[in-house]
Order: sequence, then structure tokens, then C-alpha cells
Amino acid sequence: MFAGKIKINKHLDLSRLPAHIAIIMDGNGRWATRRGLPRNMGHKAGCENLKRIVQHIYDLGIKYATFYTFSTENWKRPKEEIDGIFSIVRDYLDEDGDSFLERGARVVVSGDYTKLPSDLVDSISRIVEKTKNCDKFTLNLAINYGGRDEILRGVNKAIESGEKLESVDDFSKLLYSSELPDPDFIIRTSGEMRISNFMLWQMAYSEFYFTKTYWPSFSEKDLQLALIDFQRRKRRYGSI
Ligand code: FPP
Repeated sequence: MFAGKIKINKHLDLSRLPAHIAIIMDGNGRWATRRGLPRNMGHKAGCENLKRIVQHIYDLGIKYATFYTFSTENWKRPKEEIDGIFSIVRDYLDEDGDSFLERGARVVVSGDYTKLPSDLVDSISRIVEKTKNCDKFTLNLAINYGGRDEILRGVNKAIESGEKLESVDDFSKLLYSSELPDPDFIIRTSGEMRISNFMLWQMAYSEFYFTKTYWPSFSEKDLQLALIDFQRRKRRYGSI
């Protein structure tokens, strides 16, 4: 049933998975420092893990996944680290373009990626265009993304349209993620218990999961344990 060799935990109910899972990949730098490695080696390992976890999410049959890859605040990091992250993401998209297509996986982006270096803009534009008709799975990369920035852009679009918005859904349509359902489940690795400007509008009824594991060490098994935890929760959406 699954392409990978990963065993499925017997407590995981494959018929009750979230439609959209979103992940704050935190702890790459600390993972590297602990091993006496430069921080960008942590991002490299983080990217390898991103590939593994994307494959596993796909194999499980989850339809949408968002990964927080670079925030509007991450420009405050040292230039060397920023350049490293961008080149790692570019190589990932360039090398894996065909495998997305073969899997029927579409790549979309949340964030103003036009402000990124031109080689990365080209790689993103290429893969978005190449996979635009794929409908088995959607990988949403949040890159140069900030929740507040996204809301501000939405407000400005609404003002420009000159029309009063009638509903919350009308506003959701003005956001980067307008074609995606809101995330059911948000995971943050590395032990920090905060949101750091991620999907602020979309998380209104998301379930949260925080783990101390650094992102490069967060395995398929860990993902399944998180999903089992998700399945134990009772979502009420304000009802009883
Ligand atoms: C939020 O923490 C976390 C993110 C914006 C994710 C950042 C992830 C990376 C830079 C790694 C990129 C991944 C790959 C696969 C190359 P924060 O540190 O921005 O916010 P904080 O200061 O509140 O903790």
C-alpha cells in the first residue's frame, strides 16, 4: 500500500488523518551546534528530513502539507546562513522537480517569493508552473512568509477592491493559501512553544503539537505518534 518501508503504528487510524498538516521546522541550527557542525549543515540535514517527511505525508494519503521554510523575520539572520538556506531550498526544488510530477504532487508557495534571489525565484516559478495541474497532493512552501504580512496584504487587496467583505471566507480568499483548507494540525519541533508569525489567520481551529525533537531528527515514527495524538483530540469548533 505504501511506497516507503515505514511501518504504520497500529494505533494510527488511516481513515481519520488531517486533510492539511503544517510544520514549523525548528531546531536545525541547534541540531548542528550540538554536533560541532556549522549551522548550515543543520539546514542541509533539515532539508533531507523535509524530503523524508513530505514523502511519508504523501504515502499516508494526507492531501495538503505546509512547511515553514523562511519567515519575513528570518532576514535578521546572518547573510551567510540566509544564503545557505536559499541555496539548499533551490537545489531541493531543482533536483526533485520530476519526482513531484511523477507523484502528481503540486508545489505552491505562501509568501512573497519574488523578493528572494533571482535563481531561487526561477526555481520556484519553474516547479510551480511544472506541477500546476497535479492534484494528488499539494506541498505549500511558506517562504518569505509572515502571518501578519499576509493579513496586511489581504486587507489592502480588500480596500483596493472597494467592496465590503461579507464573510470570513471572503477574506480567506485574499490570502496566499486561498486554495488550501485551513491546517487541521500544526507541529513545531525543537521545544519552543510559540507560533512565530505562522498562519495566524488559518490556525483559528488548528490543533497544536509541540515536540522537543530538533527538526533533522523528527522521524516518520515521530510523525505517526503526533498524528495519533491528533486523533485523540475532540475538535468542537465552538460547539459542545
Ligand atoms: C520559526 O522560528 C521557524 C521558521 C520560520 C522555520 C525556519 C526554518 C528554517 C530557517 C530552516 C529552513 C529549512 C530547510 C529545509 C532548509 P524562528 O526562528 O523564525 O522564530 P523565533 O525567533 O520566534 O524562534
